[in-house]
Amino acid sequence: MSESERDTLISAEENRDMFDRIAKNYDVANRAISMGMDKGWRRKTIGLLKPFRAGRYLDIGTGTGDLVFEILDQSGNVLIDGIDPAEQMLEIARDKAEKRQVGDTVSFLVADALDLPMESDTYDGIVSGFCFRNIERRQKALAEMMRVLKPGGMLVILEATYPANALVRLGYKLYRPLVPLIGKLLGGGSAYKYLMDSIEDFPRPETVTDMFGAAGFSGVQYKSLTFGTVCIFSGKK
Ligand SMILES: C[S@@+](CC[C@H](N)C(=O)[O-])C[C@H]1O[C@@H](n2cnc3c(N)ncnc32)[C@H](O)[C@@H]1O
Repeated sequence: MSESERDTLISAEENRDMFDRIAKNYDVANRAISMGMDKGWRRKTIGLLKPFRAGRYLDIGTGTGDLVFEILDQSGNVLIDGIDPAEQMLEIARDKAEKRQVGDTVSFLVADALDLPMESDTYDGIVSGFCFRNIERRQKALAEMMRVLKPGGMLVILEATYPANALVRLGYKLYRPLVPLIGKLLGGGSAYKYLMDSIEDFPRPETVTDMFGAAGFSGVQYKSLTFGTVCIFSGKK
């Protein structure tokens, strides 16, 4: 089945509207659904990005900005742009930046991964968390990431994945009905049913690394976390 035939993929506009709708409670829902584990996953993701030298970094589908702030926590001397089509998510990210008084270091812009408004060879590193799965044309998004990375720059993508192990899948299936329930309690409605459907629909990690390779990334690898329910993909331009 081709990407465009899969019925859990929704249009960019539907995606934006959905995230705008759930923005207010997104962080709380995230913590609850991941049972607090998302913080550790973000730490590991930015650990692979290694933003240790002074440079410029981009977070694609930044949402409420948690990966941007994790970069800041791990490295003092960087400039970071976070992009996302969902204005309400970005508003929360901007509030956090204001509270942390990092407005001169980070900027949050409305933009789409498929058409980045940046010059080629701009960034030392790109990161993206739980966004790639939502993108309709993923190969095109990877081509855009490749374009705006500087030669030698690193791409690191954190994504929820459907576990391969049968026993873990059983646990996952038992946990699954709780997610839309948590979403409903937090006013998220159908968004959290979509979340679970889209994870099951997302390609196997090996297919994702093939896509990185097809976009021209080298040294491509993935690291499975939490029994294969999450993966960190990485590659170099
Ligand atoms: C599940 S949230 C993840 C937010 C944040 N990265 C995090 O780790 O919590 C997915 C985000 O991807 C954004 N998104 C969806 N499609 C996108 C696209 N085509 N380009 C950029 N961002 C997109 C959504 O608006 C949403 O804010």
